[in-house]
Amino acid sequence: MAEKLLEIKNVSKIFRIGGMIRGKKLVAVDDVSLSIDSDKPVILSIVGESGCGKSTLCKMVLRLHQPDMGDITLLGRSYKDKKGYDPKQFRLDVQPIFQNPYESFSARKTVDSYLYNTALRLGIAKNRAEADQKVDEALKSVGMSLAVVKGKYPTQFSGGELQRVSIARALITQPKLIIADEPVAAIDASMKMNIVNLFKDLKEKYNVSFIYITHDLSTAYYVSDYIATLYRGCLIEYGPAKEIMDEPAHPYTELLMNAVPRVGDKWKEDLVMPDMEDKEFSIEYCKFAPRCPYATDECRKERPKETYLSDERKVLCYHPLNNGSK
Ligand SMILES: Nc1ncnc2c1ncn2[C@@H]1O[C@H](COP(=O)(O)OP(=O)(O)O)[C@@H](O)[C@H]1O
Ligand SMILES: [Mg+2]
Repeated sequence: MAEKLLEIKNVSKIFRIGGMIRGKKLVAVDDVSLSIDSDKPVILSIVGESGCGKSTLCKMVLRLHQPDMGDITLLGRSYKDKKGYDPKQFRLDVQPIFQNPYESFSARKTVDSYLYNTALRLGIAKNRAEADQKVDEALKSVGMSLAVVKGKYPTQFSGGELQRVSIARALITQPKLIIADEPVAAIDASMKMNIVNLFKDLKEKYNVSFIYITHDLSTAYYVSDYIATLYRGCLIEYGPAKEIMDEPAHPYTELLMNAVPRVGDKWKEDLVMPDMEDKEFSIEYCKFAPRCPYATDECRKERPKETYLSDERKVLCYHPLNNGSK
């Protein structure tokens, strides 16, 4: 079997809040395992309500946070292998796109300067003329061009346009993986699908995989090859997008899916979940049990183990739905 592009292996991240003595621990990411194959590009969406650990997980993949437990490998190379780590190669292979494009670009710099920097600093282009060509090519693949962007400042663009430029910048290095953390959360509703659909085109054209992080399932619904659902730091369900959408196995995924607006529905407000309670992060049995309509005594005793429903599908639940066991 081909080497995995990315492998997240039993990764946890614990934040200590408050002092060392009185403070408490918050397990923001709790024993998560996920992988992306390298044989064909995919869009993996990581979904879940605000505060469930999506950004923390993606920051670990981007090496901005170090896991407290577990390991991550990129093309077989462990993040723990400090000697073998080549920061420049890593920046070529893995590119981020952040939530608010106005924060990613300084108001005092022209937008094209970022693209030139990426092209020249990382050695993608040897000189200015080559950089012109790479930058223009990347901008054209997101429906813009150097002629339109050149010399302009962030405020001269709409949020949607600026996010396209962020995507173009990420493409310049011809990355293998783009990590987009809530890339459309700050974008006009009418432009959201437009941006997310771009991922689908670029995936094929550039042979690049995406981790698309979102709390907005209606966009994940249309573009994902795979979906991973997080709940209070735990990966509670993972599998091919269509299967997850049509037949969710975890009661929490079912709850999320029932709230997804389908084509033709009017845009509803974001799904609102009950208040996040810190203590739920430290529950040692099933974290969803307190609000699960199907919970039994078993669920309140011990954390369920990952159960594979098929080669590509797993769930963290004693009583998965839609699979004959209920
Ligand atoms: N640097 C940090 N220090 C302490 N707690 C943090 C830090 N970053 C995130 N958290 C906490 O970890 C949990 C998960 O946060 P986050 O990964 O940002 O969730 P999401 O991206 O899904 O909204 C939240 O309770 C958040 O408050
Ligand atoms: Mg986040």
